Amino acid sequence: MKLSCLKNLTCVKNISGHPCKGNLIIENNQVPLTMWSPTDILEGIIRCTKCGNEYPILGGVGIVVPLTETYIRQNYAQLCIFLDENHYPISHNMAQYFRAKKLNIPLMAQQPVGYDHPRYLSRYVATHYPNYGKFLIKHEMLAPLLEGYEKEDLYTTLVSLLTKNNIHPNKVLDMGCSVGRMSFGLANIASHVYGLDHAFPSVFTARQILSGMPSKKTTHPFFYDGLQEMMLEFDIDNLENIEFIVGDATATPLQIENFDLICIVNILDGINSPRNFLEGVLTQMANNSYLIFSSCYHWDIEGLSPKEDWIDGKEATTSSQELANLLKEYGSIIEEKDPVMWICPENARSLSIFLNHCILFQRKHSF
Ligand SMILES: C[S@@+](CC[C@H](N)C(=O)[O-])C[C@H]1O[C@@H](n2cnc3c(N)ncnc32)[C@H](O)[C@@H]1O
Repeated sequence: MKLSCLKNLTCVKNISGHPCKGNLIIENNQVPLTMWSPTDILEGIIRCTKCGNEYPILGGVGIVVPLTETYIRQNYAQLCIFLDENHYPISHNMAQYFRAKKLNIPLMAQQPVGYDHPRYLSRYVATHYPNYGKFLIKHEMLAPLLEGYEKEDLYTTLVSLLTKNNIHPNKVLDMGCSVGRMSFGLANIASHVYGLDHAFPSVFTARQILSGMPSKKTTHPFFYDGLQEMMLEFDIDNLENIEFIVGDATATPLQIENFDLICIVNILDGINSPRNFLEGVLTQMANNSYLIFSSCYHWDIEGLSPKEDWIDGKEATTSSQELANLLKEYGSIIEEKDPVMWICPENARSLSIFLNHCILFQRKHSF
């Protein structure tokens, strides 16, 4: 984690229903700080100057989530295996620190779930940095579709919505960034981009691909048939103006009011209480700041949020109408594009194709 990132982070510990928001500093006593370079931390502890809550940095990735100890305890085995496999194992001092806090003792059987799973990681790397010609079984009807999508994918379309409207933001926050494709597109038009995701493996991988830290990643295995893997290949120049951290979009350590562009792409329908989440973001956004939004409203009856929390798709109003109505209460829609294709490969014989609703919106505090 870049040292310079620290000044942008605040404490997310929940104190009487509100985030503490204290400043974070390096805590060097319990686990000696290990630097990757003079400007980049590889491992250490950061501590809140107000409430004393501590957050670890592992393998260069800061973990700044509200229930830090629960996060570590639930993910301990996977974190150890993942960091070990990626040649940045947890140090002896850090292991002692976790042991002293009993964070090495799982509360329940540990298995990577959802976006932490190696298969999801593989799918998202293929979604963000595809090479269809290599890993998909060729089919003549698919060829024109994929060639068209490769020329202009969802992420390119979203970035061009911004450039067409002459928006070149200073600071951008990409919420639910996964392995970083949208952050990558935004880094070409913005001064600084911060990507935030709850899944440690995704954030670690995004940093490797786009910043080359703690080591450069140019290949990643894709499960193209059962357990059979093939290597996806990509080679992206390291970007200086990008940073990724592990955090919760519903309680972010990066202050939303400090950003002039917020990016919410393909996460609304996978989040707990989507309406509360979006209204919370809109309330905190600075006057005249922008939101780039995209979703296919893949509401799941058995998903995280009960159907009462969906931003419609239940009765008379469609999700896209209701989303636009909600945004209009907070500012103005600059441009909408609907539908825009989003393609996610699963294996050599399976692609998911979603039809997304995309919106560029400007927050107005009074209008
Ligand atoms: C469907 S993926 C979309 C990824 C990326 N935005 C894209 O469009 O390709 C959803 C991502 O949101 C992340 N996510 C889900 N809930 C989150 C939360 N509360 N805070 C941060 N990230 C979250 C997941 O880990 C996952 O990487």
